Amino acid sequence: MAPLADFTGPNYIDDWIAHLDSLWPERELIRQHLVEAIAVWQETTSLQAISLLELGVGNGKLALDILHRLQAHTTHLSYMAVDINGDLLHAALAEIHRGLPACATTALLGDLNDPAILRDQPQMDLVFSLQTLHDLHGLVALRGVYEALYQLLSPGGLLVNADFIVPFEKDDASNPRRFPVDVHHSILEELGFTEFTSQTEGKLACMTARR
Ligand SMILES: C[S@@+](CC[C@H](N)C(=O)[O-])C[C@H]1O[C@@H](n2cnc3c(N)ncnc32)[C@H](O)[C@@H]1O
Repeated sequence: MAPLADFTGPNYIDDWIAHLDSLWPERELIRQHLVEAIAVWQETTSLQAISLLELGVGNGKLALDILHRLQAHTTHLSYMAVDINGDLLHAALAEIHRGLPACATTALLGDLNDPAILRDQPQMDLVFSLQTLHDLHGLVALRGVYEALYQLLSPGGLLVNADFIVPFEKDDASNPRRFPVDVHHSILEELGFTEFTSQTEGKLACMTARR
């Protein structure tokens, strides 16, 4: 996989995302599962205002798609993005301002290996993430993020994490970062999340749980 730093030119972020899509074509189906899971969740809530948090933003296009769909049944939307890369945060929020100017946005620049960055943030109704949490330092970091999200989410809120569920050859076997669905399921259940679901496509799974 070529890192973002290998891409140049005015569309370098979109080109990088297209590269990820070409490496793992299952990302398209996974995005569809993620969006569908959120639509199903929205049908079960009567929230008029929805606060949304994305972990690891990419180019912001997935968030914009989700926000557009939520908008049809919601009077107020707010979106917060967390990323370790300030350029990605800037580009993702610009994408949302262009596509949905009425949406309130907040960027949080920080490293999710330190879940304290998620503390003292406003309560969220919906948290989603695509192909990001495997970038953290390992199981302790993943659990730390899940624990912080349990505190952050409103009762009945939805967590959707889509990520790799099989190890890669280059991974350090003594400190894995990509975990099977069962591992995510047991951590989430242990923390108090309920109604776990998962849909697997290739090396990725879209996993959901409710607060
Ligand atoms: C592989 S990209 C996925 C981007 C986008 N979600 C997608 O799938 O199209 C991983 C994202 O997570 C962010 N990221 C990686 N490590 C991170 C960390 N430790 N803390 C916060 N964000 C991180 C990257 O900057 C990038 O936006």
